[in-house]
Order: sequence, then structure tokens, then C-alpha cells
Amino acid sequence: MKSFVIKGDICYSKNKDNLITLKDSYLVCENSLCKGVYEELPSEFCEYELFDYTDKLVIPGLSDLHIHAPQFAFRSLNMDAELLDWLNNSAFMEETKYSDNDYAKRAYSIFANSLKNSVTTRACIFATLHKDATKILMDLMDETGLETYVGKVNMDRNCPDNLCESSAQRSADDTVSWVLDTADKYKSTYPILTPRFIPSCSDELMKKLADIQREYKLPVQSHLSENKDEIKWVQELCPKSKSYGDAYDKFGLFGKEAKTIMAHCVYSTKDEAELMKKNGVFVAHCPASNTNLSSGIAPIRRYLEMDLKVGLGTDVAGGHSESLFRTIADTVQMSKLYYRLIDNTAKPVTFNEVFFLASKGGGEFFGKVGSFEKDYEFDAVVIDDSILPHPQKLTVFERLQRAVYLNADFNGITAKFVKGEKII
Ligand code: GUN
Ligand code: FE
Repeated sequence: MKSFVIKGDICYSKNKDNLITLKDSYLVCENSLCKGVYEELPSEFCEYELFDYTDKLVIPGLSDLHIHAPQFAFRSLNMDAELLDWLNNSAFMEETKYSDNDYAKRAYSIFANSLKNSVTTRACIFATLHKDATKILMDLMDETGLETYVGKVNMDRNCPDNLCESSAQRSADDTVSWVLDTADKYKSTYPILTPRFIPSCSDELMKKLADIQREYKLPVQSHLSENKDEIKWVQELCPKSKSYGDAYDKFGLFGKEAKTIMAHCVYSTKDEAELMKKNGVFVAHCPASNTNLSSGIAPIRRYLEMDLKVGLGTDVAGGHSESLFRTIADTVQMSKLYYRLIDNTAKPVTFNEVFFLASKGGGEFFGKVGSFEKDYEFDAVVIDDSILPHPQKLTVFERLQRAVYLNADFNGITAKFVKGEKII
């Protein structure tokens, strides 16, 4: 349990409209939790170790609610296809390589190292269907000190022979054995149930996964309403369901007791969004991927108006970058295109709103995470934005906006704390 003080220029969200920025202030960590932010350091904390980051930005760690570790190696390649062709011609081809543990170790080491050195402190990660390679990924993620959920992917239909589990039973058995091996093994890495999406999971498999979810009380992550052809396909595969979300719900894998993230939600209807709200499902908004794969623009303003739980996802390698700073800027930009081209009553989302989504919005999936308010888990990233020189003196808020839009996360990270542990 760590207690210390950080001095710097502190930025954090209280809610989506209220972003606090404070020059030369003090952030106190007590027993690995945030104790408070102070303009003058109260005398009771003067004995604590002081990390002096004067003139640097101090922000909460950000949460990536959706990223594919095995796709990291081909990020930024083959970006000229739409989802279903891209899966068949790029993603699945790369994922077959993870039957080789040596390849997995090499590729996942690069992934883990990159995530450690990003602004991300928490992440929900897809692996592949290979349970040994998934365990290798979990070992490496735990070493980073980041707090992560990692999923062995389930897929038993509509995929290439060399990337397809041989039966629903085999997929379920492998999942149980992987959960038993990993559930209590790590300091900060946990299993999450990961049916890839409805097209790649048979009805029999979905039913078995729902049983596993209940037995082991696992959280769940998957994809939802990302692409129009995909949605049509799901309707053919599940003709009795009222929507794609309803198809998950009918199998018992759509929120309620199961803490659940659904990535994309580009074309969620009002009914589907209401079901997400009722069941407490988190939306992982992935603007870069939705653009790269020509999927569309998710109506984030509408989801905020409905008070859905929303966080951001980089969705590497549909998204080409692991940077949540870039994802914040993409979210603001895409909402402007939604407003201009699709619905001029959906106001663009603001920088403040999206900074909230990247920090406290997505952080809620992990508990009291993503803010510096009292009793939040102490995740912080220190950024040296002097790498972005400017001819005038700027406010802390202006510096934060520049750091995000100009990607100061690429070489400006000075320090990083997760749950009170200094990991960089
Ligand atoms: N839907 C099913 N699998 C995937 C994937 O790997 N990436 C994206 N973007 N969508 C998917
Ligand atoms: Fe994805």
C-alpha cells in the first residue's frame, strides 16, 4: 500500500461537463487510493515522499475498453477493406500464427511493451482462440503492472479451418481450463469471456459460454452492430432475435449480472441502445476502426443523452494506433461529421466530454477508476508537454488539449502509476 505526493499541473474530470485543471498543485496518494488534490499541501502529508513534476501535466490513467493484442503486429497494414473481408484476409491470417508459442511470445512482448509505454493504464484485451498463447499474453501483461482483462477468444463457425475450434464442446472445455489456470494467478490480470461475435459462435457454444459465465462470474466482451453486412448476417443466423443485441441477450450474454463491454455499436437502434442501458452494458467507442474499415459513425451524442455507459477503444488493428490521445481527438472529429452529415440535431461531443469518456467513463468498468476524486484507485500519467514548444504562456487546459491533439503520449510520458505503483 503506497502513500506519496505528486506535484504538477493536474487535470481530471469530475463528470462529463466538469474538467478540473490546476497549476502547481498537489495530488495525494494514500494507501494506493486518491486522497485529494490540493493547491497548498496540507501539513499532514508533508512527511510523504514527494515526486516533483513541476510544469508537467498529471492526468488520470486512461482505459482502453477494446483492443486486439494479436493484431498489433499488422496495425496500419491492409487498411483498404471493409470488416468481413478484412477479417478473412488480414485479421484471421495473422491470428493463426498464435498456434506457435514462440511467435506469440515475440509478438505479445512488443504489444505489452507498447501498451506499458502509452497513456493507457487499464485495458480489455482480445487474444486469440489459442489458450497457451493467451496465457503467454497474460504473463506478459501482468509483468507490465497495467491492470487488464484478457480474453481467450471463442470461435467455432464461419472462420478458416486453421482458426476454428473443432466443436462447441472443445471451445467450452478449453475456456474452462484456461479460466481455472488464470483466474487467481496474477496480480493485475484477469480472464474475461470473449465470444468473438455472433457470426463466429454457434448457438450451442453461446449457451455453453453463458453457463460458464454464470459459474465463474466472468465479465464478457464482444462486438456489436459494427457493420451493415454483419448485422444482416446476424439477423439471418438468429431470425428470432429483435436486434443483434437481443441475440446476445437471448443467450444470456448481454449485461445484467455479467459485466459486459460491446465494441462499436455503430448502428444500434433505439431498442438496442435501451436494452444496453437496461442491462448496464458498456459501449466501447472505436472511432479509428469505424473509419478505417468504413463501418460508419457511431451516434455517441445520442448514447450520452441516453446516459449509457460509454468508454473508448482503440480496437487495434481495426484501429491503427494504441494511442487513446488519438482516440479522443478521433471521437470529437467523428462526432462533428455525424452532426454535419447524418443528423444536425446531434451536437458534436466536446473535448471535455471525451476526456471524461477516456478516463472516468471507461474507468468505471474497472471500479472507482479514472479520476483523482477521493477514494479513486490511484492511476496517473505524467506528461512532459515541453516537447511541444509554444511562443506564449498557455493555460493548463490549453496545454492538455495540445498534448492530446499533438500526441504528446508518443514521447512525452515521464512517469506512470497504476493502483499506486510507479511502473515507469
Ligand atoms: N468483429 C469480429 N472480430 C472482429 C475483429 O477482430 N475486429 C473488429 N473490428 N471487428 C470484429
Ligand atoms: Fe474489435
